[in-house]
Parts: sequence; C-alpha cells; structure tokens
Amino acid sequence: SKKWVVMATAQTPTNIAVIKYWGKRDETLILPVNDSISVTLDPSHLCTTTTVAVSPGFEQDRMWLNGKEISLSGGRFQSCLREIRSRACDVEDKEKGIKIEKKDWEKLHVHIASYNNFPTAAGLASSAAGLACLVFSLAKLMNLKENPSQLSAIARQGSGSACRSLFGGFVKWIMGKDENGSDSLAVQLVEEEHWNELVIIIAVVSARQKETSSTSGMRESVETSLLLQHRAKEIVPKRMVKMEEAIKNRDFSSFAQLTCADSNQFHAVCLDTSPPIFYMNDTSHRIISYVEKWNRSEGSPQVAYTFDAGPNAVLIARNRQVAAQLLQRLLFFFPPNSDTDLNSYVLGDKSILHD
Ligand code: PMV
Repeated sequence: SKKWVVMATAQTPTNIAVIKYWGKRDETLILPVNDSISVTLDPSHLCTTTTVAVSPGFEQDRMWLNGKEISLSGGRFQSCLREIRSRACDVEDKEKGIKIEKKDWEKLHVHIASYNNFPTAAGLASSAAGLACLVFSLAKLMNLKENPSQLSAIARQGSGSACRSLFGGFVKWIMGKDENGSDSLAVQLVEEEHWNELVIIIAVVSARQKETSSTSGMRESVETSLLLQHRAKEIVPKRMVKMEEAIKNRDFSSFAQLTCADSNQFHAVCLDTSPPIFYMNDTSHRIISYVEKWNRSEGSPQVAYTFDAGPNAVLIARNRQVAAQLLQRLLFFFPPNSDTDLNSYVLGDKSILHD
C-alpha cells in the first residue's frame, strides 16, 4: 500500500568557531586547510528542527525550509543524500506492519521539513545547524549504524562547519590527511557541562545578507593570500594545542587571548585576499576596541570576541556576572533605536536579561 509514512525528527544547534576554518584544499569533498575548534550553542537558541518522512507515495525528494519549498538539486544536498542512502539499513515497525529493507532505500523518496528557531534574515549562520540536522535526522530515519564522528564526515560534505554541530560542548574538526576525506571529521573535546560558567551573547550588528559567501571568499583567499598559507602551516597547528589545553583547564585568560587573536587573523586573511573581503564594519570594530579596553583595565580578560563571515559579534563572557555587565554596557554604547541599535541574543542563560 502507498498509505504508510515513517518519520524521524531531530534538533541541532549551531556552533561558533574559536579557531576558525577558512580555506578548502578540496572543494567538492569540503576538506579544510587547517583544523578548527568550536563551541556548540545551547539547543534552546539558534537551532534547527528537522522532520524527515519516507513513504511509497512520495514521487521525489523534496525539502521545505521554514515552510517554503527549496531546491534539493545542489551538489551538497545530493552528496549528503547519496552518502546516507548508501549506508541505510533495514527498518521494521512490527506494530504497523511496515518493513523497509536496505535495498528499498534507493527507490524510496524522502520529504524534509526544516525550521530555524531564529530569524533567518538576522544574518546568523544557519547552514551549520541546518546541514547537521538534515544528516542526523535522515540517519535516524534510515537506521544508520555510524557513530556521530562518522556522521560528521557526511555533514561536512553539506557545509564544512556543519560537521562540528553533531556534538555538544567544545568540538574539534580534524582536517585529516586522506584524499577521499574519510578522516576529516569532528570529535568532541569536552562535554557541555565542562565549562558551563561561560555565557555567549550574540550582538546582531546588521541583519543584512553578507556580500561574499564563505564559499567564494575561501576560494579567493586560498588562491591569493600568502597569509592564509602561513596561518594554515605555522600558526593554527600551534594554536590548536594551546586552545585544547585552555579548554581542558578552563583557563579563560588563555582561551580569550587565543579566540580574539584567531578571529582577528581570519579577518586579516580576508584583507590579505585579492580583492580584499570586508566582513566586519565600523560597529564591529568599535565592539573590538571596547572589549580590548575593558579586558586591559581589569588586568585579565573578562570577555572574548569572535566574528564569522559577517559583522555580528559573538561575545563570550567568563561568567554570568560579567555577561550581565556586558549587556548593560552594550545597551549604553549602542542605545536602542539609534543608528547603531544592536539586537542581542543571550545564549546559555535567558534569565540574565531580567537581573
Ligand atoms: O562552513 P561554512 O562554509 O559556513 O564556513 C564557515 C566559516 C566560518 O564561519 C567563518 C569559520 C568557521 O570555522 O565556522
């Protein structure tokens, strides 16, 4: 009968890199030129929820994002679907009398419905959460036996940064050596509880779409920036060791110093690209100067900042007290309804807004 439907749902938060991934050595397989480290956000904020369904009544693979149908024809979606289908296993629901055999998955079509719990137009990275969630929910539906690291290598082919969203806490994406990408995957460094004093605040500087996509930006940097070569070969390997230490020891001073330096170097690589890429704006620069001044006046870092391929600031406060102060100061320097009005998303602790 064509009447049955089997479904699976998953929820995946986005992640923010503290040692940045910038540059691919293989564009199709999405293999990076250096390792990276990120922190996965709390699932109650900036996350994607995806429901996938399979039925003999479905005539083609289809996907909806926030209720609007989008095309699945892109190479990255197709890579993920192909990799997952090739690993699909038998699925049986005895109660409903449904049995899907391994070989059936090649012929069956899926419908995918995905929702972001944050405004898609806010210019906040959504591909990491989205592709990780797509892979995870399909793996659940098709009963894959792969562990999260093995699934991360599939999510990587959807969007590089997505591989790091298969785990919570702090996560390392190992660049790997293989030409086929089998060892380019994510591993968890520490669980979310390990450093739960940290509070992450995202200051939305601009809700505009970025002008240079990460894909074309990376390509131009790999082709033209000598700083990128130096960074990948000499700087990041040493920083990875130090960052892993800082995270394991919950050493905020070292963590903040490395996080800020790595964000600044990533944006320096963008400037070193021909033609140069500008992701930050005047407001981003003002936030950096302000945090630097504050950290220096305290004698040790209280807040770390990091910026991805856009002007929005991701601020990591060492604890709740600092985060509350930071919010007050942001509101003071960027008053609501002024031309530098910020929209803050407090991640990790909602109650802080009401202190
Ligand atoms: O995975 P992509 O193509 O969205 O690239 C992400 C690049 C940065 O966000 C700038 C850095 C990172 O490591 O997430």
